[in-house]
Amino acid sequence: MDRVGVVGCGLMGSGIAEIAARAGANVIIVEQDTAAMGRGLERIEKSLSRAVAAGKVPEDEANRARANMLFSVDYADLWDREIVIEAVAEDEAIKLDVFRKIDAEVKDPEALLATNTSSIPIIKLAMVTKRPEYVIGMHFFNPVPVLKLVEMISSLLTSPETSARVRAYATDTLHKRVITSPDRAGFVVNALLIPYLLSAVRMLESGFASAEDIDTGMVVGCAHPMGPLALTDLIGLDTTLAVAQSLYEEFKEPHLAPPPLLSRMTQAGLLGRKTGQGFFSYKS
Ligand code: CAA
Repeated sequence: MDRVGVVGCGLMGSGIAEIAARAGANVIIVEQDTAAMGRGLERIEKSLSRAVAAGKVPEDEANRARANMLFSVDYADLWDREIVIEAVAEDEAIKLDVFRKIDAEVKDPEALLATNTSSIPIIKLAMVTKRPEYVIGMHFFNPVPVLKLVEMISSLLTSPETSARVRAYATDTLHKRVITSPDRAGFVVNALLIPYLLSAVRMLESGFASAEDIDTGMVVGCAHPMGPLALTDLIGLDTTLAVAQSLYEEFKEPHLAPPPLLSRMTQAGLLGRKTGQGFFSYKS
């Protein structure tokens, strides 16, 4: 894949664009406006500079990646892409609209259309395109340049050739480990992770334990790299809520219902790291 498109340059899209460009592809990143483009560029630059400073990425590779990325607000610039990876907000109506636009602009009928959704059925996105057999889920993990996993989700209509091409791209070019999941809410990882995060929020909400003690318990007692509340802050409370809602909608199990505290904090804009305040404060 020499010509890659990424739609959305938030937490996930910026990481996906960075690793695709570092792997040598020409990457066109579509954002909704110039302000969002600026924030995306800043995120990529921060991540690349940290990686160079830590000796993880050679300076010349980072410079090549910088030169390989081009921002646009026009979906028409995706016309010659071999693969487009969508990573916009976890909102079904927005993603459906984005998929319609990508499908209308990408000219190669065999180009792959991938989504980084954590929770929306792949088949719903596939059905608004003229090429459902080329639509697939490619679910990355945050931070994308650091975490090695990609969940690959085929819908009932995804062709075996599409899965084989995406697996080869993720493994050989992006150097990720691929696991496969059926097209069910949460896929493999979030079906396990989200109930755990919701339990931590309920524990805090009920006064059972403090945020610090809940997180220290899992970091020091179970050697997790971060506690569940800090991880919810990293993922974003809005995204965690959206994934919980779709899990609950699909399975109707009480432990998947989002606790009120998560909803209220999201409504208050306390979304975690990206807004500077979630269960913990990130204001400098
Ligand atoms: N490219 C390559 N390497 C990079 C890099 C980049 N752009 N940026 C940083 N790194 C390296 C760093 O040099 C560092 O390397 P060492 O460990 O060898 O020193 C390593 O990556 C970690 O980077 P940080 O400096 O950020 O260090 P940290 O130790 O504070 O780790 C963390 C932070 C990686 C987030 C870690 O706490 C962690 O893995 N937490 C768990 C995250 C997790 O569970 N994510 C999944 C969320 S679920 C999801 O994303 C999906 C969903 O649908 C909700």
